[in-house]
Amino acid sequence: MKAVILAGGSGTRLYPVTISVNKHFLPIYNKPMIYYPLSLVMLLGIKDVMFIVNPEDMDSFKKLFGDGSHLGMNISYEIQKKPNGLAEGLILAEDFIGNDNVCYMLGDNIFYGHDLINIMKDAKREIEINGGAYVFGYYVKDPERFGIVEFDEKGNVKSIEEKPQKPKSNYAIVGMYFYDNRAVEIAKNVKPSDRGELEITSVNEQYLKNGRLKVKLLGRGFAWFDAGTHDSFLEAGEFVATIEKKTGLMVGCIEEVAFNNGWIDKDTLLELAKPLRKTGYGKYLIELAERA
Ligand code: G1P
Repeated sequence: MKAVILAGGSGTRLYPVTISVNKHFLPIYNKPMIYYPLSLVMLLGIKDVMFIVNPEDMDSFKKLFGDGSHLGMNISYEIQKKPNGLAEGLILAEDFIGNDNVCYMLGDNIFYGHDLINIMKDAKREIEINGGAYVFGYYVKDPERFGIVEFDEKGNVKSIEEKPQKPKSNYAIVGMYFYDNRAVEIAKNVKPSDRGELEITSVNEQYLKNGRLKVKLLGRGFAWFDAGTHDSFLEAGEFVATIEKKTGLMVGCIEEVAFNNGWIDKDTLLELAKPLRKTGYGKYLIELAERA
């Protein structure tokens, strides 16, 4: 399985902050927002990652991640010329995905939960064995803002709607999608929505029509933030700060994951920590190396 992380968009819901800087570089507490989804695909053991980026941000992304070799990964980039919608990212990544399955992540979604990685591994395994699409639902108070899934009495998925004016449930589909290889073709056949975008919800709807969509609810014990508005951005940062201070462990620390995965050795970890040593982040990496 490969991973594609969508990190383009205009970020208008974070204006004026994001007039001059892409939201994915903004700090969720002590590290760039984009570290969080990247760390999750790394925890899944996925080394081949493509970022979909705006033309003007390509150089900044390369400055941050390069080709990924310092993390023992293969990181590549593809440009999305205009914010034409989330499903377009799948089309842009067609050559990169090749014949593989794909974990598709939104760069502004932050997840935390004790069992999260096991749940993600289950989804990955399910797609690898049986194909289809595997997505997650999360209870929200403001369903108008999201892709919403409706269930029947038996708990089967009945419908999926993007930002409905009259939501049929309070379960939002979060920005982490597992797809078999058909997703690219499905995305190519999606028609633009009323807001003129190729919606990822339309891709999920097609899987639903084909009887190939699985939705798992993330219940008690999970925190999910779509950090694309001022309030949710702040909440996500405060949440991460609290968790990290209480547990003494970092959330979204990509160097730590690379090290724990055995993708980089202790010397490389210390080397990566060097320029960061004045920060808690750098000190954390140094301690990690020294304990090993
Ligand atoms: C997007 C999707 C929506 C999903 C949400 C999760 O919305 O279109 O279906 O629920 O991400 O963050 P956007 O943030 O692009 O408005």
